[in-house]
Amino acid sequence: MTAFDFAPLFARDLPPAAGRWTGFAEHNFVGGHNDPEGIPVEALVEAATRQLRAKGRELAIYTLDGGPQGLRELREVVARKLTEDRGAPTDADQVLITSGSLQGMDLVFSLLVEPGDTVIVEEHTYGGTLSRLRRRGAKVVGAPLDEHGLRIDALERLLDDMAAKGVRPKFIYTIPTVQNPTGSVLPVDRREALLDLARRHGVPVFEDECYADLVFGEDWPPALRGMEGGDAVIHIGSFSKTLAPALRLGYLVADWPVLSRLLPLKTDAGTGAIEQLVVADYFGSRFHEHVAALKPRLAAKLDVMVEAVEREFGTAAEFTRPEGGIFFWMRLPGVDTSKLYAAAKAGGVDFNPGAEWSTSPQARDCLRLCFALPSEEQIRAGVARLAEICRRETGIPAVSANVRHAPAT
Ligand SMILES: Cc1ncc(COP(=O)(O)O)c(C=O)c1O
Repeated sequence: MTAFDFAPLFARDLPPAAGRWTGFAEHNFVGGHNDPEGIPVEALVEAATRQLRAKGRELAIYTLDGGPQGLRELREVVARKLTEDRGAPTDADQVLITSGSLQGMDLVFSLLVEPGDTVIVEEHTYGGTLSRLRRRGAKVVGAPLDEHGLRIDALERLLDDMAAKGVRPKFIYTIPTVQNPTGSVLPVDRREALLDLARRHGVPVFEDECYADLVFGEDWPPALRGMEGGDAVIHIGSFSKTLAPALRLGYLVADWPVLSRLLPLKTDAGTGAIEQLVVADYFGSRFHEHVAALKPRLAAKLDVMVEAVEREFGTAAEFTRPEGGIFFWMRLPGVDTSKLYAAAKAGGVDFNPGAEWSTSPQARDCLRLCFALPSEEQIRAGVARLAEICRRETGIPAVSANVRHAPAT
């Protein structure tokens, strides 16, 4: 008997079908995974045990009676973190707990984006943002970046040009603090200028602060949400990068006129309660201690990544050292990384090709490597393998590990 054919019944305009999951590549530099050694397993076991003993019976109630915005204790952790660490005085009532910050992003896009709308993003940006906006039929316009993040002069020209054509973008989406993929941190004067520009053009800002707790330096600017003009900012953040992405916990911060319209769009009857209980317990007291231990681990892996890329790719690779986070963004002039991708994957190395992380055709020779998940040894071995495959496929790099190779034929 042939199986029932659902295909003719599918809704129109679905995304392409998924391939079957075949596991991770041997050298996995793809996505935004965290450092397995940085997961505080024992402390999480203790937190889970403590919380389940104390509150286990509340699991009988949707949202544990914390209401649709999420567990009160976790919202208080987020509000304190925003207030004390990000210079953005926040009340727990302004916080919505989400299933990863991706859910927050989906909610904001559902609230604001209609087909044909123009949205400004950074020219290189999170691939998940680009794919979501495009699926909604938005016209996505990239604003130029330099090594410090958004170029305000270029953004001003862009906004002026749009205004001259009668176009008012729905919002400016930015990852100002450890930009994905470039790793820059937008200086405070540019933040002020960005908010001023946005206000003058009547355009709100959507601030994605997924990596803001992972700046490797001593100090860094406040969140846009906390600065003058921050009332025009919707802010999302995540526990994926400070703690663990598989927990699927993030948050959104906005004022009630926005939150009250977002809440009816969050139709999942509440974000997972055990995760919320555990993270509120653990981060209620250990946030600073945890992040202070995680950052040097990541910074050490970045050092290994930089050394490996310099050794294996030599002058063929161009990059600016990221100021924090988990990603290394590099350019290989002359290499189409979307083509290299398939050969690398077949050879056991997975990375994100630049074209998927950018609005700019020039990013075809860029690629992004996540250095948080692999061990230092795996980083060295994976970058060496990548250079070997790249040379075989493109003749680049001609020199690596001080060895000159015969040109590819
Ligand atoms: C900039 C940015 N925003 C949002 C996300 C989604 O993170 P989450 O795990 O919180 O859904 C990511 C994940 O890599 C990201 O890089």
